Amino acid sequence: MCGIVGYIGKREAAPILLSGLKRLEYRGYDSAGMVIVNGSLQLMKDKGRIEDVDSAHGLRDMKGKMGIAHTRWATHGEPSTENAHPHVDCTGDIAIVHNGIIENYNTLKELLESEGHEMKSGTDSEILAHLIEKFYCDDLAAAVRKSLLQVQGTYGIAVVHRKESKIVVARNGSPLIVGVKGDEMFTASDASAILEHTKKMIYLDDKEMGILEKGKVTIKNLRDEKVNKCHEEIGWDLEQIEKGGYKHFMLKEIFEQPDSLKNTMRGRLGKNVKLSINGSVENCRRVILVACGTSWHSALIGRYLIEGIAKVPTEVDYASEFRYRDPLVSKDDLVVFISQSGETADTLAALKEAKKRGAKTLGIVNVVGSTIAREAEMGIYTHAGPEIGVASTKAFTSQLVALVLLAMDLKVKKGGKIDEKLARELNRIPEKIDAVLEEERKVKAIARKVAGHPNFLYLGRGINYPVALEGALKLKEISYIHAEGYPAAEMKHGPIALIDENMPVVFIANRGRGYEKIISNMEEVKARQGKIIAIATEGDEEIKRLADWVIHVPRTIDDLTPLINVIPLQLLAYYVADMKCYDVDKPRNLAKSVTVE
Ligand code: AGP
Repeated sequence: MCGIVGYIGKREAAPILLSGLKRLEYRGYDSAGMVIVNGSLQLMKDKGRIEDVDSAHGLRDMKGKMGIAHTRWATHGEPSTENAHPHVDCTGDIAIVHNGIIENYNTLKELLESEGHEMKSGTDSEILAHLIEKFYCDDLAAAVRKSLLQVQGTYGIAVVHRKESKIVVARNGSPLIVGVKGDEMFTASDASAILEHTKKMIYLDDKEMGILEKGKVTIKNLRDEKVNKCHEEIGWDLEQIEKGGYKHFMLKEIFEQPDSLKNTMRGRLGKNVKLSINGSVENCRRVILVACGTSWHSALIGRYLIEGIAKVPTEVDYASEFRYRDPLVSKDDLVVFISQSGETADTLAALKEAKKRGAKTLGIVNVVGSTIAREAEMGIYTHAGPEIGVASTKAFTSQLVALVLLAMDLKVKKGGKIDEKLARELNRIPEKIDAVLEEERKVKAIARKVAGHPNFLYLGRGINYPVALEGALKLKEISYIHAEGYPAAEMKHGPIALIDENMPVVFIANRGRGYEKIISNMEEVKARQGKIIAIATEGDEEIKRLADWVIHVPRTIDDLTPLINVIPLQLLAYYVADMKCYDVDKPRNLAKSVTVE
């Protein structure tokens, strides 16, 4: 997520802003910038790490006692100098930093350009600077308020004007706080950036503004009415704040999934699916999904989705295998590369192989502007936000949603119609995941019972066989327990020899397609004293006859069950690893992005 820091007071602003930005690094970013007001606007910004931007542009040497700064996690527009914040208006007198997404950006951009404003960047944020310029009449706060009344979407913003000794801040859906220390005023997108200076905070609510002046802060609503806000004393320490109060980033990211999935779907699921995929894909005769690790698991699920929804023959391959097998692909193939980081070496190499052979290429990537995103001919950003935990969770479910959207889009491009029931149910998934997350305590209790076992088996059928693989990988990579995923029907072809009272078996056993078969697989395990953990559809009580532990999940349509079923498996892996006191966010031997072969 982007980071915002602001300061006005008696000290030099630059060092305070820089240390605040450093505190926000954990949120993930790809560019940084700062503006200091000292009779003029001194503005420096660039893509890259904060320390690199500082050493290249001397951020810390800028003189002045008021300023705002920003770290950007690209959502609209690639990471670049012109897309970095702060953004200025045409006059260069107004500078803004922004977190969030302006949904009516195109409309406002057309209006402003028709009035002669010239945009310099590819971001939605820049239009805010021009909008404020449009309304500015020697009163920055009034201009900001009038501008925000025109905006639809989410924002956390900080704004300065060359001629005014004040910082104007505002929020709607993107957190922003004000810190107070005597005559000094601070603002930030989260408390960790300013906690070293003060614990006294004022939390803005949606559609509220703050006017920060030396020794004074005024809070107003967008109707220009004063709002009385009490100061709150922060009780958390810095580390707790960065994790939003969760013990680990991984747990925070598991719980972020209802929101991250809304971001993946935002603006893309209307009467039709809106993806930036050109019409050339309608002629593709085959889809090949290529990835590594967890992303390969989403590729396996993607095959069920694309063949089931779009009726296009689909294959799946490990990137490391695809790149070396001299793949028989051509211009009639759409090769899709799935990658959270967009930097995985094997996946990037596979992409280059596919391009060499003339295939159409598409990236499903989380990190905007990453190499795979830039190398692929087309792309779908998952917008899951930065994923800090090495074990992928929210990026995985966002990949699945992107694959559903791709399958729906392909169907329409090939002359089909959107399945309204599927679209409606997809919109309901975030609230259903909220319901599953309420089972956290039950999953934690199960983890406590099984954490000591040295081996696990995960079994699923059909579209949930890859979910079994993913559940096993999650456990392996953070608890170092050997775990294997298998198609449930394959158990009798070997793995059943492993079953005894020391082998917990996790079954994905939703009501619906294959349920009776799964039940008979559970019977086979039960007959050999295996311990069974069942992921079952809410209301299914009879499964308790066979399972030692049952985690109920909401009913949904078969195609979307992986989005629901994976949540308890993520939590189970997390709590087993946490009980073993392992470093859940940075497991041994693993890197967040495998950029080597
Ligand atoms: C998943 O939990 C692992 N961290 C790993 O398997 C990962 O999915 C794989 O390295 C692929 O990474 P990517 O999605 O960034 O390409």
